[in-house]
Amino acid sequence: LSRKLSSSACINQSIKNVVVIGGGLMGSGIAQVAAQSGQNVTIVDLDRKVVEKAQNAINTSLQRVAKKLFKDDLAKADKFLTNSMSRLMLSTNPEEAVGQSDLVVEAIVEKLRIKQNLFKTLDTVAPTHTIFASNTSSLPIGEIAEATQRKDRFVGLHFFNPVPVMKLLEVIRIPETSDDTYNRVMDWGKSVGKQTVTCKDTPGFIVNRLLVPYMMESVRLLERGDATARDIDTAMKLGAGYPMGPFELLDYVGLDTSKFIIEGWAEKFPENPLFKPVPTLNRLVEEGKLGMKTGEGFYKYQKK
Ligand code: 3HC
Repeated sequence: LSRKLSSSACINQSIKNVVVIGGGLMGSGIAQVAAQSGQNVTIVDLDRKVVEKAQNAINTSLQRVAKKLFKDDLAKADKFLTNSMSRLMLSTNPEEAVGQSDLVVEAIVEKLRIKQNLFKTLDTVAPTHTIFASNTSSLPIGEIAEATQRKDRFVGLHFFNPVPVMKLLEVIRIPETSDDTYNRVMDWGKSVGKQTVTCKDTPGFIVNRLLVPYMMESVRLLERGDATARDIDTAMKLGAGYPMGPFELLDYVGLDTSKFIIEGWAEKFPENPLFKPVPTLNRLVEEGKLGMKTGEGFYKYQKK
């Protein structure tokens, strides 16, 4: 009976306490949008330096957001920044951090076993009502959820880089996801200022399933010598209205990340020509040219 009561009690309960596991680019962005929307957020990483770096990155990004929101009202901008930062807590202990959570969003390394081990541990210590979510861009949500006893409270929440700017949130339902869980995360997505779309647990969901093959086709076009990278980028920006061309986007996302995604799919669907290896991409990654983050990918960048 107590179980029944506790599960019905969570219906319509809104999400106020969020734990984000992983202090990288995506984790910091997710933590930021929750904190700036008035929620209490704990950002967790085993490495103290990573959480501190995340805190600094959030502070810098919040200043850009504040400038945009409040233009010349310095006092309001300052208040927004201080309030948002005051809702952000740092932790290096995931088990301790999830104790008071309503939602846990995982944004750690893209390794199935590591994600499964994390969720398996958290499942035993998180409150019953807590929803678990993964921000994975290429692994099946169902396989990650397998490690837990709460598949009904498990979803994919896929954000886009840069999280504070990109307005989309893909919500991935697995067959076991309950309506209550689904409704709560859809509401939460709106509460952090995102437009939500729903997708089944299919490789790449919506955006990456279209975007990654498109970027790979661009590299193949270049490899055939049909056009230069610069002209392909210009064509897609001015002819199709994309904010970045495919090579700029590859450099922005990271060549290693794109290679990792396509290789994972190729392993699962070897007959699909869209997922075939792309030699130029593989060569650049081998040479350590991973895009903006290393100072060179398809283009060269000034190191910051
Ligand atoms: N934090 C806060 N604000 C930021 C920001 C950040 N990290 N980055 C940019 N902004 C703001 C700027 O302050 C600026 O605001 P303003 O218009 O008021 O001045 C605005 O965003 C535009 O930024 P910039 O002027 O610096 O540069 P651009 O106009 O060139 O925009 C961009 C940059 C938003 C990155 C744009 O080029 C873009 O939308 N590119 C495509 C990004 C994309 O496709 N992302 C998805 C990648 S796939 C993915 O993430 C999935 C994963 O699974 C692989």
